[in-house]
Amino acid sequence: MKYKILELLKSESGFISGEEIGRILNISRSAVWKNISKLKEFGYNITSSTNKGYHIEDLSNVINDYELKSAINTKVFGKNFICLKETDSTNEEAKRQAQKGVDEGFLVISERQTKGKGRLGHIWTHSNSLNLAFSIVLKPKLIPQDITALTLIAGLSVCSALTETGVKAYVKWPNDIIINGKKAVGILTEISCEIERINYVVIGIGINVNEKSFDDELKEKATSLFIETGKIFKKAEILNLVLQKFEENYYLFMEKGDFKPFIEKYKSLCINMGKEIKAFSKKDVITGVVSDISEKGELVVKNTENNSVSLVSGEVSVRLKDGRYI
Ligand code: BTN
Repeated sequence: MKYKILELLKSESGFISGEEIGRILNISRSAVWKNISKLKEFGYNITSSTNKGYHIEDLSNVINDYELKSAINTKVFGKNFICLKETDSTNEEAKRQAQKGVDEGFLVISERQTKGKGRLGHIWTHSNSLNLAFSIVLKPKLIPQDITALTLIAGLSVCSALTETGVKAYVKWPNDIIINGKKAVGILTEISCEIERINYVVIGIGINVNEKSFDDELKEKATSLFIETGKIFKKAEILNLVLQKFEENYYLFMEKGDFKPFIEKYKSLCINMGKEIKAFSKKDVITGVVSDISEKGELVVKNTENNSVSLVSGEVSVRLKDGRYI
């Protein structure tokens, strides 16, 4: 019954009285009130006014089982999911789910993360419901060396999804998503594998969607879709678009077996191309100019001695026109 009430509230731009809802659905006013209370518990922001009745406020940030089921329109990715209010990290939960044997495409999404993880041991803060944090379990028939390309495909897919919503986004190799020189999305890939076989891959994606501002430490480097456009985005729609693009690209990658079909597109969106970079690996720092992306998805850099070096992973800073590194 609560979902019937929800759909009625959604279809009404203004207020609708409890009496009217009761009449349409043939239930008492107290039953209406009880169901409205349940909807509030599920995260819906419903205003009640003694004279006017009920009104549902903006749904953009609401993510729950019901909203996800109606928003996700894919074949495999996100068809099965768990939607949590809070978890340590969606990547950690996805790994736990993978150990239990969930199928490929299983999605873990959470409103908050208490120990959100970034790449290379960084922290990814995700403490409110304005942004998206989710992870997808994959079981690709690949060898561990192919993971670089798979990671790039995740970034490319997010980039395409954001561009489709009207936000011009770029990729910073391997898979940071950059809007107007600042990072709006982070992707963390984790694998469980043996020498020649992958057991599963978890791709975790954090998208700053409706965040209004960042603290002093972050605001030079981080941004959100809202900050860049002044528009509020429906998180469930963004999630669906990302899942659709990623699913399409992932299965093409599996079918073709390499990164070739994606190279040109990736290079056209990659802010590292032709730029001076600094690449930090565990061993040393490489300085040079990016000349190419290889068929395996490696970053090809002409170093200061004019030798070509191919990077598989690591942290890369790109020098912008104004001399700033991002
Ligand atoms: C980075 O840019 O350093 C990667 C950030 C990845 C953050 C996402 S949020 C969802 C998933 N769960 C995590 O703990 N991390 C990833």
